[in-house]
Amino acid sequence: MARVVLGLIGFGTVGSGVVQLLSHQKSLNLKKIAVLDSNKERAVKTVCPVTTNVNEIIEDPEIEIVIEAMGGEHPALEYIRGALERRKHVVTANKEVLAKYGPELFALARQKGVAIFFEASVAGGIPLISTMNKGLEANEIAAVTGILNGTTNFILSSMESKGESYDAALKQAQQLGFAEADPTNDVDGHDVAYKLSILSALAYERFIKPQDIFREGIRNVTAQDMAHAKEFGYRIKLIGTSRLAKDVTSGDSACDVRVHPMLVPLDHPLANVSGSSNGILVNGHAVGEILMVGPGAGSLPTASAVVGDTINLASALQLPDFATYFQPNIRSEWGNVVSVGSWSCPFFLRILVSDTAGVIGQIGTILGAHKISLASIVQKGVQKDEHGASAEIIIMTQSTKEQTLRDAIAEMQKCSFFKSMESLFRVFEAPV
Ligand code: NAP
Ligand code: HSE
Repeated sequence: MARVVLGLIGFGTVGSGVVQLLSHQKSLNLKKIAVLDSNKERAVKTVCPVTTNVNEIIEDPEIEIVIEAMGGEHPALEYIRGALERRKHVVTANKEVLAKYGPELFALARQKGVAIFFEASVAGGIPLISTMNKGLEANEIAAVTGILNGTTNFILSSMESKGESYDAALKQAQQLGFAEADPTNDVDGHDVAYKLSILSALAYERFIKPQDIFREGIRNVTAQDMAHAKEFGYRIKLIGTSRLAKDVTSGDSACDVRVHPMLVPLDHPLANVSGSSNGILVNGHAVGEILMVGPGAGSLPTASAVVGDTINLASALQLPDFATYFQPNIRSEWGNVVSVGSWSCPFFLRILVSDTAGVIGQIGTILGAHKISLASIVQKGVQKDEHGASAEIIIMTQSTKEQTLRDAIAEMQKCSFFKSMESLFRVFEAPV
């Protein structure tokens, strides 16, 4: 096989792993690496020239495949677009650009007869994209659900196993290099929302605009919530879900796409995906449910996906019509989402109420009036402050529509006994 010439943009965590793995690939020739600061000391040594001028890569006629491992929205978008316009194939780990500009970029790739490979953009080293794109091709996918962010899973796992606060666990994740100095993308769920957009494109042929995805992060999860969850037989995980639903107003197919913390039953496999690992359930009508677990981030695991893509792409260059064969079937329009209130699941609530007789009865009456069935209601203790005594009540409901629960909570909040809503978690049920 003739040696395929590559250019790499980015020589950080992922780029360094890519350079390491490419050094063992005789049929791939890394010609140049672009970075921001060419004077920076690199963790991995290379004889390949390093430049700060990305055009030396995307305008080089000899380079057939551009590997984008720099991240961020701009100028990564312009570099990917520039490479595709010059009929270069792109391998990227950039979930943000794909989630925000996927329909445009895949249409451009199709028009130019080139391919975008993106295995590393979701779930790091786990071969989830190729499994969904090729391995599960015979299936209609009903749902993709799971733990899609290594940083937050590491933080939640540390909080639970060591009884640490969110702040202490985040600091440790930063010291170990999992979390970035600005952890917003990970802890507020943006990273998972980007990944869900990409997974929706694979499952349902349409990307979902990240701003349409319901998103709650982990900043408000407390060690107390984790302890209560455990007592009830659950573990708190940040769960991303995309599942096919019907838009009730138009009747068209739409997606229920969301990321938020959930209580996962301790005996469910997802509850035991710990540390920085990812775990994803895919439900196909023929295969049933499959679970993939593994490293969702990190230099070599992510590089494994990037270099795997590059090897496959380089091999495919020998075949006629390879680009269309490997490109997922993605429509150029965006997918619709259903309203968050239409989702049904059991809920876990922790509320503070005045410590007076009959309050639990009144809560039961309000929930009953909204046809919400209780699984459990317990008083955990009494707290005293300058406003008097407050009882901490934990409520577990049976499965109910989220909007129905919100209506019931709004009614409770109007009652004189109600003091504060401390926590509200959705409870994980296997997708149907
Ligand atoms: P990183 O460590 O911050 O590295 C970014 C690299 O890009 C650096 O080498 C930087 O150059 C270079 N760069 C930044 N802006 C540039 C510009 N304008 N022109 C040229 N080079 C530029 O990032 P990373 O963690 O490797 O992540 C890269 C991508 O992989 C992101 O899309 C990320 O979401 C994705 N990803 C990361 C992981 C992970 O575990 N880290 C896992 C899956 C996917 P300097 O070195 O000179 O600053
Ligand atoms: N920041 C991401 C995570 C990197 O923690 O999972 C992998 O996409």
